[in-house]
Amino acid sequence: MKILNKHIPKTLCSFFLIILVVSSCTNDNGNTISSPDRSLSLDIRSQDGMISYSLSKNNKVIIESSALGMKTDQFELFDNLTIATTDKNSIKQKWTQVWGEQKDVLDEHNELSVKILSDNNLKMIIRFRLYDDGLGFRYEIPKQDGIESFNILDEMTEFNFAEDSPSWWIPAYAYRRYEFLYANTLISEISRDTYSDLVEDLKGHRLGPEAVQTPFTVQRQDGIAIAIHEADLTNYSSMTLKATGTKNMQCDLIPWSDGVKVKTQVPLNTPWRTILIGETAAELPLSTLTLNLNEPNKLKNTNWIEPGKYIGLWWEMIGTNQSTWGSGPNHGAKTDRVIEYIDFGAKNGFNGVLVEGWNTGWDENWCCTGEGESFGFYEPHPDFDNKRIAKYAEEKGIRIVGHHETGTQIDNYESQLDSAFAYCNRNGIRVVKTGYVNDGSQNIKRIDENGNIQKEWHHGQYMVEHFRKVLETAAKYEVSIVVHEPIKDTGLRRTYPNMLSREGAKGQEFNGFMPVNAHNKPDHTTILPFTRLLSAPMDYTPGIFNLKDYRYNGPDDRRINTNHHIPSTIAKELAHYVVIYAPVQMAPDLPENYEGHPAFQFILDVPTDWEHTHILNGEIGKYITTVRKDRNSGDWYLGSITNEESRQIEIEISFLEPGQDYHATIYKDPKDGGWDTDPEEIIIENVVFTKGDMHTIDLPSGGGQAIRFYPKR
Ligand code: NOJ
Ligand code: CA
Repeated sequence: MKILNKHIPKTLCSFFLIILVVSSCTNDNGNTISSPDRSLSLDIRSQDGMISYSLSKNNKVIIESSALGMKTDQFELFDNLTIATTDKNSIKQKWTQVWGEQKDVLDEHNELSVKILSDNNLKMIIRFRLYDDGLGFRYEIPKQDGIESFNILDEMTEFNFAEDSPSWWIPAYAYRRYEFLYANTLISEISRDTYSDLVEDLKGHRLGPEAVQTPFTVQRQDGIAIAIHEADLTNYSSMTLKATGTKNMQCDLIPWSDGVKVKTQVPLNTPWRTILIGETAAELPLSTLTLNLNEPNKLKNTNWIEPGKYIGLWWEMIGTNQSTWGSGPNHGAKTDRVIEYIDFGAKNGFNGVLVEGWNTGWDENWCCTGEGESFGFYEPHPDFDNKRIAKYAEEKGIRIVGHHETGTQIDNYESQLDSAFAYCNRNGIRVVKTGYVNDGSQNIKRIDENGNIQKEWHHGQYMVEHFRKVLETAAKYEVSIVVHEPIKDTGLRRTYPNMLSREGAKGQEFNGFMPVNAHNKPDHTTILPFTRLLSAPMDYTPGIFNLKDYRYNGPDDRRINTNHHIPSTIAKELAHYVVIYAPVQMAPDLPENYEGHPAFQFILDVPTDWEHTHILNGEIGKYITTVRKDRNSGDWYLGSITNEESRQIEIEISFLEPGQDYHATIYKDPKDGGWDTDPEEIIIENVVFTKGDMHTIDLPSGGGQAIRFYPKR
């Protein structure tokens, strides 16, 4: 036994409480390890020159023997392999998040690194880390003679599920990025045809294989829930999972336009392939595995990173359709209108006011081809008096949240990056929302070395590297970002805590601009916590109060378009602030819909940075009840939501401090309410709770309940 600190850079040691770090290099069975609580066990086999892994929970096989390896344009590390040595380590350490769903995170895992040799003596290490909440593994190709730069043609990793279970998935290689409702089918039934039958028509022109995006979630007959994802996606292409018509899923990396999957060199550490496992689905959202597999915070000073809440000049374009991003009589971002938002935000203690359409570039075809007028990212529109607005916001103690819609003109954006973030820094802007609207996913223009135009996928290595460049440049100018149409998160917020939030799923905006038959369904936000939200915070933008008859035919035709009705209730909208985690949350509705509304108080109260989180109950696509404790006070908040079905949920108030009475303000739907019948009526009640009390939550169809608990003094 020896003390190991090679995984922890010295400079970072002072930030961590290192409880126990142990290493051992020999063991009776060199190819098996267990999780610290011994519930999970990992088995590595070498047979006929191929290396495979399998994973069990409480002696039940979860993932059967699954292939490992990769093929490149210069060598293969797939067959003719032998295991040279294995090495084992155990780590137990605690680290603190700059912000998050919980303050402290325990990183406790057992590690197995397997050194592999190919028949021509090339070396690769496969590093496995087994936690109580799942497995992570990655390939490492160290510097060695005979390899420099190379192209990965295929990563051979498999996920061979032991059971053909129900799964929740969105398609990859489709015309949108991740903005789809989820399909629920057996693993073996995954295909775009099935998706077209169940959710949305994808029968048109198709590119790429049948594949799904990650996180990809399944739940076995015995209740065990599993989610496949990846951690620390850096200088690599994003992983989708290829469906095979069986219960076997295969790693499928999004290619470059020339078909190569990854352009790389030694030393290479691939992203971690992760398998999250919960005894029940309700355990999945609490997993910290993805964060633990990312590098510690790289930013020396984080004082400028501010979680908080913002309002915005946004819904009046995307939701109510009364204003425009571009020039003209209905241009939204006019100085006087922005000043009104600043007044409303400052009066109510918001941290920021998002302003979209403040800059140039919106007037010709900004959407949805990557063509059109070039956006200017430090060039205010003549209607937007930047100097006056910056000064006024500063006087009022509120910040402008910047907006960079790129329309996926990547070269145009990258050529302005430094100036754009320097502009933010000069003007007191600490958070920027970025955007990458472009319909058709292999439609991102890249000029290659020969000056030719290539079209790249939104999720390939080119864009992974672009998103990182933006994040790092923003950090240089002390700006945090919230990305719309992003690359999926893989836990990067640990390394760069200025990576605040992102969209990356069907958000509220689809309720804004799509007619009622294409709205998010009432079950959508009961699926997200077990799928998309496993990867990261989301800028869903809950909090619309005017749920029916809110949209005009157009800025010049102020008749109500009755095709729009958001399938939610005000109480559910409030509950979403607790259920859907984000360190920056928006109150998106128009100020006039909040002003004087008694339920607005919940949005004003609810924090965005938490000390603890518990999931009291939940079933994928049916309901979930989440409670969180404020990081800066003794307050607790509860959010409970249901799908289309009405239900009654009995909970024990198990989470409050013992021996302390708490006032509770309950925001609930009328019993016979629900999204279709009475979405805008809300009942507010005040009661007192102590730990151990029981509470019955009545949720009508598509409804929710939100509660603030605060200690009685
Ligand atoms: C799509 C984003 O998701 C939305 O929030 C934004 O308003 C528009 N693009 C325009 O940038
Ligand atoms: Ca979007």
